[in-house]
Amino acid sequence: MKLQNELGPNIPVNKPLVVRTIKDVTKEQREYALEKTEYNVFSFPADLLFVDFLSDSGSGTMTDLQWASLFHGDESYGRNKGYYVLLDAIRDTFERGDKPNRAINLILSGETNVKKLMDELYLTSFEGGFVNGGVHQLIRPNAFIVPQGRCAEFLLFSTIAPILKEKYPSNEFFIPNNGHFDTTEANITVNGITPVNLFSANLLDEFPYDQMDNRNPFKGNMDIKRLETLIHEKGVDSIPLIYITITNNTAAGQPVEMNNIREVKKVANKYDIPLFFDACRFAENANFIKEFEKGYQNRTILNIVQEMFSHVDGFTISFKKDGLANIGGGFFFRDNGKFHEKFSFKEDIGIKLKEKQILTFGNDSYGGMSGRDIMALATGLYEVVQESYLNERKFQIRTFARKLAENHVPVILPAGGHAIYLNMDKFFEGLDAKIDEFRGVGFTIELIRHYGIRACELGPFAFEWDKKNPEQQKGILNLVRFAVPRNVYGPSHIDYAVAAITELYNNRDKIPKVEISRGANLRLRHFQTGLQPIYK
Ligand code: F0G
Repeated sequence: MKLQNELGPNIPVNKPLVVRTIKDVTKEQREYALEKTEYNVFSFPADLLFVDFLSDSGSGTMTDLQWASLFHGDESYGRNKGYYVLLDAIRDTFERGDKPNRAINLILSGETNVKKLMDELYLTSFEGGFVNGGVHQLIRPNAFIVPQGRCAEFLLFSTIAPILKEKYPSNEFFIPNNGHFDTTEANITVNGITPVNLFSANLLDEFPYDQMDNRNPFKGNMDIKRLETLIHEKGVDSIPLIYITITNNTAAGQPVEMNNIREVKKVANKYDIPLFFDACRFAENANFIKEFEKGYQNRTILNIVQEMFSHVDGFTISFKKDGLANIGGGFFFRDNGKFHEKFSFKEDIGIKLKEKQILTFGNDSYGGMSGRDIMALATGLYEVVQESYLNERKFQIRTFARKLAENHVPVILPAGGHAIYLNMDKFFEGLDAKIDEFRGVGFTIELIRHYGIRACELGPFAFEWDKKNPEQQKGILNLVRFAVPRNVYGPSHIDYAVAAITELYNNRDKIPKVEISRGANLRLRHFQTGLQPIYK
């Protein structure tokens, strides 16, 4: 008889105990709502959709343990107990590998031994890692809790930009990344720095869908040759940081190999440039390394995460990803590391960052989050690295991609970690669809109109193709993304989406081009412009 794990990858890993009824909205009602919301899919009321793939960000289902931890939330203005728990959970997740401390259990179990609480949680001090503790966090702050990833990006880039300009007044600055996310790119740009995407050259290579369980080309990697060329061309003092996004959301959610991280680190070391992660989907990335990179099969996720983070000088993170929590973000850098040294110009960079954190988000011990959410997040950090959870999620996305590929829909393969992406250049091949006709957006409008499904264009419209120079235009892919929130959807949602996407693909000649009717020059315009589909 076969063993349980030979019956396929999908051993059930959880069960819903609460469900939400989806409303029975008609096509005519959606058409009316589309018109009323200027055909901008971001503005469409979520409650009127059948399935919402706009984002996996903060939209996942919390576990029963996370709901239970909300009750332990402490809304104190100064040093709420969740602050200590969260900082320790971050050390556990990113630094301690297979030896987590789990100080969170002192709170969740209602520990009443005051001395134990003081010695093991409230009055402990740490230094030398990503999260100083006790007096060291005051003297050399290096850990900043914020409400979401983009707040961390804002904090980082708005603080370093003036320092760079003061230090190197005649320089231009460039921040390379294996793929900047839209908010990262925008936060860099508004601060007068140029973001550069160094996608892996194999990103759009064909991949057979029946091989997805057997191998992975790690298409999320950074193109290291281009990184070296950029540094040579622009000069070391023009590259303040190097960024690696794990997984590479803008490049179809593809994972990054440990070997690539190591190689980028070598280049960063050679030129003495701090290396950062945009760590949004670190656990999913680690899970791909475990499955496909030689030498990692017998390692735990925590152990792999520890190695990944041992290579970087700091990271910004949205804790809303990976299905971790509904809200949360952070910015962390290595105590007395390269980033600290480079940017502590006249004043300690951590102190500067802390001042801005307090001015803009809140006292350092909650950073704009509620005490309840801090507890749910800390609990989520322990759950997100569980392999059974990660596998179930990964196989759901893989199945979604495989079913589309079987129907000949041009989906980027292999599937990434949190979403499937359609290649819109291929989708409209042969139809003379011009890049500035934004047909990818037209496709997302039709998906809502006909089928009540929301997806998101991440292509020439979102990345503002028409406002970029030819060099920057090369860094824009033409994709539509279906991001899958964690533990929200099951096979019926995926099958419905596959059927709807296939139907539209088979009728792609009827998909309208789209014009921007209001706000073409707004920054981050995909969140806010008015649109008009033009039907023939
Ligand atoms: N970096 C990456 C790679 C992201 O995917 C996101 C958000 C952010 C940074 C910003 O984080 O939303 O917490 O401020 N991505 C979401 C998405 C919105 O749908 O992909 P945030």
